[in-house]
Amino acid sequence: MSGTSEQVTAGPGEQRLDPAGRPVPDFPVPAPLAAHGPARVIAMCNQKGGVGKTTTTINLGAALAEYGRRVLVVDFDPQGAASVGLGTSPHELDTTIYNLLMERGLDVREVLRSTAVENLDLLPANIDLSAAEVQLVGEVARESVLSRVLRPVMDEYDVVLVDCQPSLGLLTVNALTAAHGVLIPLECEFFALRGVALLVETIEKVRDRLNPRLQVDGILATMFDSRTLHAREVVARVHEAFGDTLLHTVIGRTVKFPDATVAAEPITSYAPNHPGAAAYRQLARELVARGDAA
Ligand SMILES: Nc1ncnc2c1ncn2[C@@H]1O[C@H](COP(=O)(O)OP(=O)(O)OP(=O)(O)O)[C@@H](O)[C@H]1O
Ligand SMILES: [Mg+2]
Repeated sequence: MSGTSEQVTAGPGEQRLDPAGRPVPDFPVPAPLAAHGPARVIAMCNQKGGVGKTTTTINLGAALAEYGRRVLVVDFDPQGAASVGLGTSPHELDTTIYNLLMERGLDVREVLRSTAVENLDLLPANIDLSAAEVQLVGEVARESVLSRVLRPVMDEYDVVLVDCQPSLGLLTVNALTAAHGVLIPLECEFFALRGVALLVETIEKVRDRLNPRLQVDGILATMFDSRTLHAREVVARVHEAFGDTLLHTVIGRTVKFPDATVAAEPITSYAPNHPGAAAYRQLARELVARGDAA
């Protein structure tokens, strides 16, 4: 696929430009960490479906893990796509994040599992989680249940990535309450910006009422097809509306991502030399350079 050449390659002495026309800084390979934790929690959030939240959670997580970061992926979507994408079969799970949310006395360590990716652990979910939205409504401090669940292991990880479901309901509010930052994947298509205002409003409400430290870490353009003028126009409009909240890194559209999902592997191990893997490694380096990840 040629749609993955998401950045203009520069000749010697020339600046590489991102699709918004900005020079791309050099994002250095992060230095190894001498010690781990406390974790920075990043919620992957967009109430629009199919924009690349799960793909970004898995592949950013794997890229950060490759750089020696200890990463926990929290599957916070009853569809369980992140769990499947990291090699678990959700119907065979005894305990999931659902049990942690609903049962006091169950420790997060009893539910989290390692994955085939070194340094990357998973808190899995399955369809059970769909009941939590309703069941949590009557709980005391119902918005901060995830935050409480994660607390015992915060010092063991450098980054926790929460893969949200496509809604702005109570589960997503829990993710935003537990988070330090929000990463917003946006598909490069015409209606991409629809709904972003509502998302930003929700983030602001959570910041005002529940979690003053919460910030928007960045907007990530996904499924970018460099061959179409249209995709470039979308990126230009996002840049116009959000300025440098738009990350330099852009994820190209390629069938390698669904292929990797079918193989239940991150692209960084499924096709380590593919431009899609390079793009998620660059995203990891960009977030570290911005101070959004360890
Ligand atoms: N850059 C890409 N190029 C091509 N296909 C992609 C890309 N990113 C994701 N996809 C595919 O698009 C579909 C939706 O992606 P993904 O599941 O990551 O989105 P999502 O936002 O998590 O969706 P949902 O809202 O349903 O949870 C998947 O089939 C995925 O493999
Ligand atoms: Mg998803």
